[in-house]
Amino acid sequence: MNELNALVDSARAAFAQAAMPAELENAKALFLGKSGRITELMKGLSALTVDEKKSRGAAINLTKQSIEAALTARRQELADAELQTQLQSEALDVTLPGRRRGQGGLHPVSLTLERIEAIFASMGFDVADGPEIETDWFNFTALNTPQDHPARSMHDTFYVEGGPDAAPHLLRTHTSPMQIRHAVQHVKRYRAAHEAAGQPSGELFAGAMPEIRVIAPGRTYRVDSDATHSPMFHQCEGLWVGENVSFKDLKFVFTDFCRTFFESDDLVLRFRPSFFPFTEPSAEIDIQFQTGPLAGRWLEVAGSGQVHPNVIRNMGLDPERYIGFAFGMGPDRLTMLRYGVSDLRLFFDGDIRFLSQFE
Ligand code: PHE
Repeated sequence: MNELNALVDSARAAFAQAAMPAELENAKALFLGKSGRITELMKGLSALTVDEKKSRGAAINLTKQSIEAALTARRQELADAELQTQLQSEALDVTLPGRRRGQGGLHPVSLTLERIEAIFASMGFDVADGPEIETDWFNFTALNTPQDHPARSMHDTFYVEGGPDAAPHLLRTHTSPMQIRHAVQHVKRYRAAHEAAGQPSGELFAGAMPEIRVIAPGRTYRVDSDATHSPMFHQCEGLWVGENVSFKDLKFVFTDFCRTFFESDDLVLRFRPSFFPFTEPSAEIDIQFQTGPLAGRWLEVAGSGQVHPNVIRNMGLDPERYIGFAFGMGPDRLTMLRYGVSDLRLFFDGDIRFLSQFE
């Protein structure tokens, strides 16, 4: 009897060892298979007497039943374990945040341009748009910068072959050509009204007209590339032409703009004498924050000046009657100052990790 009990124990141990259904079937064959231990014991019966066969046979049967029961129990255990693993692997973690569709957002420089437009619009300025591929006339000559003017060398740019006519075309180096384009359109409109009313006007218009108040933001190009210069950059031109406009007005408007743009009254402006062929006198506009991380430093944000009489003439206006002020600022620079960005190239690399901070 002990021998049979030991057999049941060793079968239980073998089944417990099997970690996979296939291993369990192998262990089963060892005990219950055709040439397994039970079959072996049955064969031994033939040598016994009828009575012995009876009791020994019954004992072997009990042993077999115990082993079969152990097998069934282990099968169930393995099946349960497998189900558990499967359930765990397919578990849905309802605490995970959902996946949203990316929202997208405006580029930081676009945010600045929108801001500039809104502020100047509130001060009665129109917003004009013009070509990035310009003629030499609008980009330079009409702006009092003839072919051999040394100021041209600071505006090296990209020339475009095969323009619409024989005139050389180039990628505009500043938004100043928009001063001429916009003013010419404006003057044409009021000159036509005058002439229709039977008032002839000379080559240069000296009749009455509403003031020109316009800004012209857009892309500009120069052969320049480092941490603070990009071959493509943005500018925003401003032009204000009328009969009684003065430097005081320009100072007032630009100071108001800067304080609104940076949301700070703790901001001082300095008009530093400078030179541009198309303005006389000319001034570089510097700002100084009185508080914050940039406090105390003078930061250049724009060029400006009184529109040169030759430029007023190229607008079709009589400089004896009309006077104007212009400025050209760098929205990229303003964006860097507003958000504390130190490398201009970050704006144009298209790295989503940088850009998504402005959404
Ligand atoms: N166009 C000048 C530049 O790019 C800036 C400027 C604009 C200066 C208008 C005076 C008046 O440097």
